[in-house]
Amino acid sequence: MTDRDDPLLAALADIVGDRHVLTDPSVTAAYETDWSRRWSGRSRCVVRPASTDQVAEVVRACIAHDVNVVPQGGNTGLVGGGVPRNGEVVVTTGRLTELGPVGAVAGQVTAGAGVTIAALHDHAAAAGFTYGVDLGSRDSATVGGTIATEAGGVRVVRYGSTRAQVLGVEAVLPDGSVISRLEGLVKDNVGYDLPGLLIGSEGTLGIVTRARLKLHPREDHRVVALLALDSVSDALEVFSELRASLDGLAGVELMTADGLDLVAEHAGATSPFADRHPVCLLVELVGRADPTEDLAGVVGDLAVVRDAAVATDPNGRAGLWRLREAHTEAIAAVGPPPHKLDVSVPLPALPTLAERAPQVVAEVDASARTVLFGHVGDGNLHVNVIGPDSGDDRVDVAVLELVAELGGSISAEHGIGVQKVAHVGLGRGEADRTAMRRIKDALDPDGRFNPGVLFGI
Ligand code: FAD
Ligand code: MLT
Ligand code: ZN
Repeated sequence: MTDRDDPLLAALADIVGDRHVLTDPSVTAAYETDWSRRWSGRSRCVVRPASTDQVAEVVRACIAHDVNVVPQGGNTGLVGGGVPRNGEVVVTTGRLTELGPVGAVAGQVTAGAGVTIAALHDHAAAAGFTYGVDLGSRDSATVGGTIATEAGGVRVVRYGSTRAQVLGVEAVLPDGSVISRLEGLVKDNVGYDLPGLLIGSEGTLGIVTRARLKLHPREDHRVVALLALDSVSDALEVFSELRASLDGLAGVELMTADGLDLVAEHAGATSPFADRHPVCLLVELVGRADPTEDLAGVVGDLAVVRDAAVATDPNGRAGLWRLREAHTEAIAAVGPPPHKLDVSVPLPALPTLAERAPQVVAEVDASARTVLFGHVGDGNLHVNVIGPDSGDDRVDVAVLELVAELGGSISAEHGIGVQKVAHVGLGRGEADRTAMRRIKDALDPDGRFNPGVLFGI
């Protein structure tokens, strides 16, 4: 039962109902530590609104009681952006799960912010469509969270990242007002693109409550191949050949022998190859007709491919994908929370990044273990460093400085969160940072939404 002597809790309970204001530490704990276990903090309470109006009222109550707000979706974020830091009210979108009918003519759907990506996929598939973004956290990650982080995932080579799927959003701004663009207009340029501004804003400018999303026609034929290679350069060569020769390339994912060892040890999934190869590339091709022969034809001509395993049936495909998607949990299972650096570089620089990242880490901490995997087609490597204490960010700095030197981005798809606040200067110049700060100050002059994320406090 809500503590009615606490005016904020009483006001929130009046809006959402007593049982949707959570204060019991054994219940709120799950909302207070992020997936990686690297960040956690105490909340004032966790509140579970069920509609956009309730979100707006909750925000107004927080303003009235001078309390800050942390928006949260599935809490699968990896940069500490969705968990409280200093007694904020966590506004979770877990009850905003309404899914509208699929508009078959336009290929669009309206989804509540709390709808999981897996649920969205099922809903789209039942109507003959697919949603462009897919990621290993699909069972928990939400529409709102993926918009707020501008999530990428494993199908960016085919459909683009989240930004490319969003036709409009409805959101509650830090003053409690609501903006709404849910008509699904393909052309609409009346002034500033405010929904566009919210994409990738990491909960600092608004709470997304619903989104109008683009869907793509479902392609039912698919084939997945695992290719054994000697190097990241070879992986790049394979990607370039596949892209040039084939339609329907829907995934090009890189793994290394070290990462596959961890997956075997901690996730029980083993590579199909007899030999241990330095690099493996998972390739997925989709189409309206079976693309297996096309893929086999191109791969057969590639001299750099040392071995190959091909899966056309659902179980076989899932088994190969498991090798790639289990990396996150396998790395987390080693022990201390890993330092997860999600970076991108121009494609030609990818082999240099893969070679030098472990070196710069070793120069800082010779006992640290660096594991690389990622989305080759997007120039996006996940540099995971296991060993250093959570609070020791010297390896983070070393890797991010290397990325900046190579002309890359210190945040490819996970966001800045609290993890990289101190390093934004490696990715954006002063003019950019000043403009971003002015936008934040204009929409959220009191710093009410997600303080400490994206900007220092
Ligand atoms: P949360 O973790 O709850 O929040 C993330 C951020 O968004 C926070 O700053 C939060 O304040 C804000 N936020 C959440 N909901 C809203 C809202 N409705 N309105 C405004 N702000 C909001 N990411 C990728 O990009 N690609 C991947 O391939 C990928 N794979 C992953 C695999 C695993 C196993 C895991 C654990 C994570 C992975 N991630 C990946 C990271 C994560 O899933 C994404 O960042 C995802 O977009 C987070 O969604 P969420 O709903 O869990 O958001
Ligand atoms: C992935 O591509 O699997 C994710 O971005 C998660 C991670 O980096 O661990
Ligand atoms: Zn990723």
